[in-house]
Amino acid sequence: MNDILIYEVGARDGLQNEAVPMDTQQKIKLINMLSDTGLKKVESAAFVSPKWVPAMADSREVMDSIFRKKGVNYPVLTMNMRGLEGAISVEADTVCIGTAPSEMFCKKNTNCTIEKSLERAENIAKIAIEAGMKVRGYVSCVIYCPYEKDIDPILVAKMCAKLKKMGCYEVSLGDTLGIGTPTKTKKMFSSCVDAVGVDNLAVHFHDTYGQALANILACLDLGVKVIDTSVGGLGGCPYAPGARGNVATEDVLFMLNGMGLETGVDIDKICIASEFAFKQFGRKPLSRVFQALEAKKEKKS
Ligand code: HMG
Ligand code: MG
Repeated sequence: MNDILIYEVGARDGLQNEAVPMDTQQKIKLINMLSDTGLKKVESAAFVSPKWVPAMADSREVMDSIFRKKGVNYPVLTMNMRGLEGAISVEADTVCIGTAPSEMFCKKNTNCTIEKSLERAENIAKIAIEAGMKVRGYVSCVIYCPYEKDIDPILVAKMCAKLKKMGCYEVSLGDTLGIGTPTKTKKMFSSCVDAVGVDNLAVHFHDTYGQALANILACLDLGVKVIDTSVGGLGGCPYAPGARGNVATEDVLFMLNGMGLETGVDIDKICIASEFAFKQFGRKPLSRVFQALEAKKEKKS
């Protein structure tokens, strides 16, 4: 039994922001590599408008071609009914729905009001559950919004409660801009725990200001058991200007391993997948662990 569940978002959140999308065959290879690391959750695609997020335009081909390993889930992001139809047509096991406690962010990200985003989410959740799929909720900008600044933790908690009521088995709390610090994080996370209970929550930190590990540690102290990460630190949100990738999977694994917390994920295999992913863009992984291991290798040779 693992202590912490790592929820890998590299192939979706990680790749959605790349100016030149990763080649579809390489994306499929990356997801297959991730499936072989011990990860149990590999978010793999987004059935959203290709005009809005061109890098996810190949989601159908990706979902049709990846090898779906037994015991691993391959969630996909959907923001409207058309997205859900796509998810159903590829027999996705899990759909993710999203909203944010900021009118401006909802408008920029999904072209609708908060109310409309919740209405869309509720409709998706209802049909997805009827179709036998699991539904995961995302709340973005849980600490700070690039357009509306500081976010009230109570608003975030209320959104979690609404998503739980819709049938989400879990709500992932996104610090989309990667600007939160531990004290604010604790306040936000505690308020969500009060609303829906810790077992229904995951945390999703982008690492723009290098605060993600500290924030994760703050949430571990409060009992979080599910952490969203991205291989090599790939990523960003196209509608959160300046946001960097999610915290790197290997950096989180290194911290958890050092704390004696089991994840069942092989850090060496993640580093190999990380190098493979960044190689497609002619870059090196952003993760500190990868860089430290590289420096060690260079010193030896
Ligand atoms: P819309 O513009 O309101 O919808 O989009 P529309 O009905 O007016 O359609 C506009 C065009 O998009 C039409 O094409 C539709 O057919 C097409 P046209 O007629 O102009 O040729 N369209 C679609 N095509 C394919 N699949 C679809 C689809 N829907 C419409 N599902 C929509 C609404 C939500 C779809 C749009 O705003 C959109 O795609 N937004 C992008 C959302 C997104 O993926 N954002 C990034 C992910 S969220 C994130 O990263 C945060 C997270 O990681 C957590 C965190 O960090 O905080 C989860
Ligand atoms: Mg994100």
